Amino acid sequence: MPTSSHSYPMSSGDDQHSYIHNSSYQKSGIDGIEEKTRRCILENFDLLSLNCNLSTIRIADFGCSTGPNTFHVVQNIIEAVKENRENSLVPLEFQVFFNDQPNNDFNTLFRTQPPSSKGEYFSVGVPGSFYGRVLPRNSIHIGHTSYTTHWLSEIPENVCDKNSLAWNKYYIHCNNLLEDVTKAYKVQFTKDMKSFLEARANEIVPQGLMIVLGQCFPDGVLHFETWQGVVVDRIGDCLMDMAKPGVTSEEAIELFSIPVYFPQFSELKREIEQHKSFTMEMMEIVSHPLEDIALSNEFMISMFRAILSTIIIEHFGEGVIDELFDRLAKKLANDPIDFKVCKKHVNYFILLKRK
Ligand SMILES: C[S@@+](CC[C@H](N)C(=O)[O-])C[C@H]1O[C@@H](n2cnc3c(N)ncnc32)[C@H](O)[C@@H]1O
Repeated sequence: MPTSSHSYPMSSGDDQHSYIHNSSYQKSGIDGIEEKTRRCILENFDLLSLNCNLSTIRIADFGCSTGPNTFHVVQNIIEAVKENRENSLVPLEFQVFFNDQPNNDFNTLFRTQPPSSKGEYFSVGVPGSFYGRVLPRNSIHIGHTSYTTHWLSEIPENVCDKNSLAWNKYYIHCNNLLEDVTKAYKVQFTKDMKSFLEARANEIVPQGLMIVLGQCFPDGVLHFETWQGVVVDRIGDCLMDMAKPGVTSEEAIELFSIPVYFPQFSELKREIEQHKSFTMEMMEIVSHPLEDIALSNEFMISMFRAILSTIIIEHFGEGVIDELFDRLAKKLANDPIDFKVCKKHVNYFILLKRK
């Protein structure tokens, strides 16, 4: 059977393999748009038009993981709202909703919250899939999500079915090499994006904001042409190599496909524009501070290990992880990724306003 759970949080805890210690790539992306986020809030978040007696601003970070990135995001949003505070007739307080899947490591999240957050805002953990409602109607003034919506709500059904045209064979993700597989992923992505926006449209107050940061492809670029696509394909190759001595099996690999889909820019734009509850105030490709840097093998391996360990362990068992990533290290050392040849994912920044 394909992997049954639909929730694969980032590596928990705060050891050397945890997301906390291996999320600096995402942190750089967040830092890169900090000023843009601040300006967007200053220009688009009008406390008076929301309610002149408003005294509690409610902020939600959807798919917050374990930190520390979410804490930076929240702090930046709060500072920007405070800069606007001369608009407000009453002193402001902040309540922050940290959302992620129920099996996210919320204990580590709250245990590692910066001391400065106390007194700055009141925290609430919100377990649940952001593809459905997780918060009350009309309760959120500013929603945020970063590097999350490429995770689909489920594995597109047919991609693990050997009898389907959309079977993903021995590939372990949507690398865009098989047209029917790409189509199946695209269908799921379209459904999920609609559910995400519908849920947020219910939760965010009229005139409230939703900020989305993520990765997509420039139009025409395919996943297997990018360094990220190459790394995941190599992880698949390592799993196949491990089937020979029986550590994994070909049957298990045939039933494994990671539920992640990166859309092309115009595809993403189309999906969002179709949703009529928000106006799109901004949708831009933004530079990522590390985009022109050839990353070290060690950096890439640690990053992918923190992102993919949960789903790999659930499907192949805990015992494969160390060997898998050791093998990946050897593969990348013997055959380094040529960053000059690889095409690039891009980062996008979207600002939506609830009508
Ligand atoms: C790459 S991490 C990003 C974490 C953080 N936002 C950041 O920028 O560093 C993706 C996060 O999205 C969460 N996620 C994925 N699908 C989700 C869903 N359906 N509902 C809630 N969280 C989800 C994962 O559990 C994970 O914590």
